[in-house]
Amino acid sequence: MATQIKILDTTLRDGEQSPGCSMNLQEKLEVAKQLERLKVDIIEAGFAIASPGDLAAIKAISETVKECTIASLARSLPKDIDLAWEAVRKAESPRIHIFIATSDIHMQYKLRKTPDQVLEQATEMTKYAKKYCSDIEFSAEDATRSDPEFLYRVFEAVIDAGATVINIPDTVGYTTPWEFAELITNIKNNVPNIDQVELSVHCHNDLGLAVANSLAAIRAGVHQVECTINGIGERAGNAALEEIVMGLVTRYDFYQAKTNIFTPQIYRTSKLVSSLTGAHVQANKAIVGANAFAHESGIHQHGVLANKSTYEIMTPASIGLTENRMVLGKHSGRHAVEDRLISLGYNLTKEQLDIAFEQFKKLADKKKIVADEDLEALVEQKAVSIPEVYKLRSFVINSGNSITATAAVRLVAHGREVEEVSTGDGPIDAAFKAIDKIVGFDFSLESFSLQAVTKGKDALGEVTIKIARGAKHYNGRGLSMDVIEASVLAYLNAINKMMDELKLIKEVESGSETSLDF
Ligand code: KIV
Ligand code: ZN
Repeated sequence: MATQIKILDTTLRDGEQSPGCSMNLQEKLEVAKQLERLKVDIIEAGFAIASPGDLAAIKAISETVKECTIASLARSLPKDIDLAWEAVRKAESPRIHIFIATSDIHMQYKLRKTPDQVLEQATEMTKYAKKYCSDIEFSAEDATRSDPEFLYRVFEAVIDAGATVINIPDTVGYTTPWEFAELITNIKNNVPNIDQVELSVHCHNDLGLAVANSLAAIRAGVHQVECTINGIGERAGNAALEEIVMGLVTRYDFYQAKTNIFTPQIYRTSKLVSSLTGAHVQANKAIVGANAFAHESGIHQHGVLANKSTYEIMTPASIGLTENRMVLGKHSGRHAVEDRLISLGYNLTKEQLDIAFEQFKKLADKKKIVADEDLEALVEQKAVSIPEVYKLRSFVINSGNSITATAAVRLVAHGREVEEVSTGDGPIDAAFKAIDKIVGFDFSLESFSLQAVTKGKDALGEVTIKIARGAKHYNGRGLSMDVIEASVLAYLNAINKMMDELKLIKEVESGSETSLDF
């Protein structure tokens, strides 16, 4: 009989908290809605105490997403638990996820507490959280470097105190599949009340073993795995959801385990997360990388043409990658575009479809064939609408290899047209400097990347930009067949997000973020 494995997706918490992956409220909400379509069981929507933005996003997700359990993380402290409950209490199925470190190294140097004090705090805070919520997950941070005997004591006590899920994190990606499976077996054999709860694992990827360790844990009998889309997360990231799920699907014969994940939504979810966070997926990434289903070598192509199963162990369609069956161009109508988007896994509202179709028409006027990748890029770019405090009206660039680049940029800024001129080290730098003069805010450009969406000289250029103001990062994306225009649009997109958040934070409270002491 198949074992049912629950998927807890922590893209919006562990994924989002990693540097450079931050998302604003609208973006988090879009990801949460997509995770619901993907049919994850639990969405860890954030860490309520971390910032007013996190709290607002968890609340919005709790009020919007109906089909998944919504969890907020909390340290084992009353103020964290109060806020976590405040964040999830409107969810159809709320969960509070509390954690405390149990390894000697963390207890001694980070918490400065004895094991007995940690045990008491874990127990008391589980009881405290239980007053609010019936579904309580308890995590022993750095479990894989903890003394197993101490772990057994802590788990037994928090289960008695009301925990319903016990999570075993490999916080620093230290364990190995064999050792981890043994730890889980030992926990099952040495914690007398372990049968009352669901067992969970949460693996980081510092040694590249997060997925392997999660799968070993499934074989050892856990009921839940925690993971993120594209494996984003602290340092080397978390276990990648798509790799665990497709591992279980493809090797069902071996694992005999199932999830509720609707795999045809995997590709679309991966695209959405990479485009909203600006964290690109490497081409050779398993399952969702651009080359994951590409066969370049002659021998492989020959085999695949003869019979796909020679080199393909899963079908592209199983993750929602469809082979292009219809060519779209300037004569294609709204229905053809809509059909194509549906088969690509998009479920757009009428308004979103109107915008997508208008963009499609503009592109089809310039480009003979509009590929699936073009359509995806157009839709992803508009997935989240952001108030355009600054909007591009026009730009003129004078550049070459024997003159100093000059840019004149005209924007609609706060409702009126403004123009500035600047020189720079190349046309993009000149254009950005002209924009800086108009905006007049202090921020820095952290990263810039340009990618072609498809092959060919008429490819759309996609620019991803990260800007920073203090500790905050904002991603921007711009799409155009003209790379300077794509760059300007990406820069403005990031600036508009910064403007939006500054306004938002002022509304929520008067300014700065809470700094956390773990
Ligand atoms: O990596 C970790 O230990 C965590 C816990 C808070 C679950 O993210
Ligand atoms: Zn983690």
